[in-house]
Amino acid sequence: MLGLASKRAVVTGGGSGIGLAVVRRLREAGAAVTVFEVGEEKRSAVGSEAAFLRVDVADEAQVARAFQETGPVDILVNNAGTGTLSSLLDLEEEEWDRVMAVNLKGPFLCTKHAARAMAKHAIRGAIVNVASINAVLPFDGIAHYCASKGGVVAFTKAAALELGPLGIRVNAVGPSFVETGLTADLSVLPGILQDHAAKTLFGRLATPEDIAKVVLFLASDLAAFVTGQTLYAEGGTLLSGPKGYLTAFEEATGLDAAKEWKP
Ligand SMILES: NC(=O)c1ccc[n+]([C@@H]2O[C@H](COP(=O)([O-])OP(=O)(O)OC[C@H]3O[C@@H](n4cnc5c(N)ncnc54)[C@H](O)[C@@H]3O)[C@@H](O)[C@H]2O)c1
Repeated sequence: MLGLASKRAVVTGGGSGIGLAVVRRLREAGAAVTVFEVGEEKRSAVGSEAAFLRVDVADEAQVARAFQETGPVDILVNNAGTGTLSSLLDLEEEEWDRVMAVNLKGPFLCTKHAARAMAKHAIRGAIVNVASINAVLPFDGIAHYCASKGGVVAFTKAAALELGPLGIRVNAVGPSFVETGLTADLSVLPGILQDHAAKTLFGRLATPEDIAKVVLFLASDLAAFVTGQTLYAEGGTLLSGPKGYLTAFEEATGLDAAKEWKP
């Protein structure tokens, strides 16, 4: 049903966290996977699950060479990402550029080179970008990261529009907070994990597997008629408007709101 058996996939940043969970799901579904990773130190985590290429996704020459090495692929998961904490007033130009280069230029470069080969070989491919809830919900101190992920959502739509006529689908997943290498440094902040868990409707953080399952869906034939979409996998975090109006109204007025409140 997934239609992934014997498909060829590339997962960028597949050496840890969400990317590694995606690699495992794709492998389970029968795909042959190649990981593009910037650092050699992630090779052992990937082990025999996937082929491993050292690629900085922000460097076009490296990306082009890597796709020559893999040959045409059916699936691309643009997962590699990075971020740092800095107030907007102190954010250095180099840091803005670095985060944009990995998080936004990386998906562009990988999409361009993967899609060229898909088009040349008439492959009806699927591209999945890993965005974030921060595309639509800012947190303090990560303006550069928020902007990059907002860019990923817009790029997803633009790429879907151009590549759709070639039979290539482009979608994104927008995770809420997941404990990974990216967020490890933040765990020094007291209560941060509990805080993010409490912001969901299920009282827990997303796991890498939660996100990987959504990536698998978007990459698979189950999503054959879906393109240009960002699916937010966030346990209801984005629904976090004011709560408790009904109870507060009834307590304050002694009325049964359903029967007696007339706006
Ligand atoms: N962890 C979260 O809370 C969270 C939430 C929303 C979105 N995301 C996104 O999920 C994706 C995966 O992040 P993660 O949380 O698993 O973190 P992670 O640090 O575990 O994984 C990111 C991977 O990307 C690789 N990478 C970084 N720069 C690269 C480059 N230039 N070229 C190739 N590879 C590079 C890293 O080596 C690392 O293995 C990122 O795009 C991140 O922005 C994470």
